[in-house]
Amino acid sequence: PKAIKSKLAHLTELRSKRIRVSGWVHRLRDQKDIIFLVVRDGTGYLQTVLSGTVASTYDALTLTLESSVEVVGTLQAVPEGKQAPGGHELIVDYWRVLGAAPGAEDAFTNRVNEKSDPHIQADLRHLVLRGETASSVLRLRAYLLSAFRESMTSYDILEVTPPCLVQTQVEGGATLFTLDYYGQPAFLTQSSQLYLETVLPSLGDVFCVQESFRAENSHTRRHLSEFTHLEAELAFITFDDLMDNIENIICKTVDILLTNPSSAAIIKTLNPKFEAPARPFMRISYVEAIAWLNEHKIKRPEEDAEGNPVKDESGQIKMVEHKVGDDIAEAAERQMTDIIGKPVFLHGFPAELKSFYMKKIPGTSFTESCDLLMPNVGEIVGGSMRIADMTELLVAYKREGIDPEPYYWFTDQRKYGTCEHGGYGLGVERFLAWLADRYTVRECSLYPRWPGRATP
Ligand code: 4AD
Ligand code: MG
Repeated sequence: PKAIKSKLAHLTELRSKRIRVSGWVHRLRDQKDIIFLVVRDGTGYLQTVLSGTVASTYDALTLTLESSVEVVGTLQAVPEGKQAPGGHELIVDYWRVLGAAPGAEDAFTNRVNEKSDPHIQADLRHLVLRGETASSVLRLRAYLLSAFRESMTSYDILEVTPPCLVQTQVEGGATLFTLDYYGQPAFLTQSSQLYLETVLPSLGDVFCVQESFRAENSHTRRHLSEFTHLEAELAFITFDDLMDNIENIICKTVDILLTNPSSAAIIKTLNPKFEAPARPFMRISYVEAIAWLNEHKIKRPEEDAEGNPVKDESGQIKMVEHKVGDDIAEAAERQMTDIIGKPVFLHGFPAELKSFYMKKIPGTSFTESCDLLMPNVGEIVGGSMRIADMTELLVAYKREGIDPEPYYWFTDQRKYGTCEHGGYGLGVERFLAWLADRYTVRECSLYPRWPGRATP
């Protein structure tokens, strides 16, 4: 019978049929007169069995891992007591090598494996991606992006695509990548927030999935120079509505992923202990968090006027208690979330620690801002209510030393029918690190960028 061409994800209905599949040699076990090949095509894995004359050709005897092949044969259930992906086995009657991979002298597995030095793994990321773990993480990332879109749509939030090339900053001038734009200075966007705000009167609530860029000299588990930013902006809301929406979107997204058997299976493999977080999420104010840190003896390094850590006589960094006004640094934040062990909203940060556009809690120097922290990762979402009043915004530009001129379009949002509004940004790689229990966000990006790294 003519063979049915199939991807490996769709074999269940093809038992006892003659099929044709193409892929790469993922595993190879040669027992002389019988060869077991596990073929991989990106959608799944299939054990294939070559025996008799099909196993004794020159190609069969010289076959190498990562060669690309086409195999044709009859799909069967694996014999009782044996294991194979999906419980299938292909009894091959015809096959051919499409692209041979080098053997011993330049073998794939000699160049990189899970124990290789991290620099080598980074240089050879294009090969690492063929591995089971790396490819599962990226497959889950694809499900995650589509689940985010589905969640946003279910709340009537519309997707837009703001530009990456911009001439304004959002999160501070210190982390901008600057480039020459036809003879004028321009930047790679740090956040699409300002653009999202401008389209509220046009499209209503909006979101985007866009790359953001930060020239931060941070070599940490959770910083990238380029990351995928899911951002949303909502009109006519209160600060509580904003936190509710963040929680709703996250829980809906997790729910979609756990309902879909394909994504649920990947989560089960990568993060067996994962459970949907309980609702409502804990909410604590910044001032309460400072007290909590001191109660739990979590200290911070003392800093001099320039912000450098102060050392004692023995050269040790001096650790001191937190006080209101201090930034809660990454280390303290991580200890806090790990002790609490579940998602927690920190809200009401001091204005001087936060960006120029944030709305103040009336009559105070604190802002209507929130970070959502997750165990093992820390901050995955940053959001706030925005200054809705034009005069107040002009004062905020001044305080921050921002020239209002290039922001004329952002200011106009307040001039022509302002509204109370707010929004947030979620780091997709950080969310994925939480969901899939990855040590670093570098594993959650296709080709991660960090200081000094822009290849492959
Ligand atoms: O807290 P951030 O800087 O907030 C903003 O950019 C707002 N303008 C977003 C908004 O309100 N629309 O960034 C938001 C999130 C962080 O919580 C974090 O998850 C992620 O973006 N993020 C990073 N992820 C990886 N590497 C970096 N260098 C990141 N910087 C921020
Ligand atoms: Mg933040």
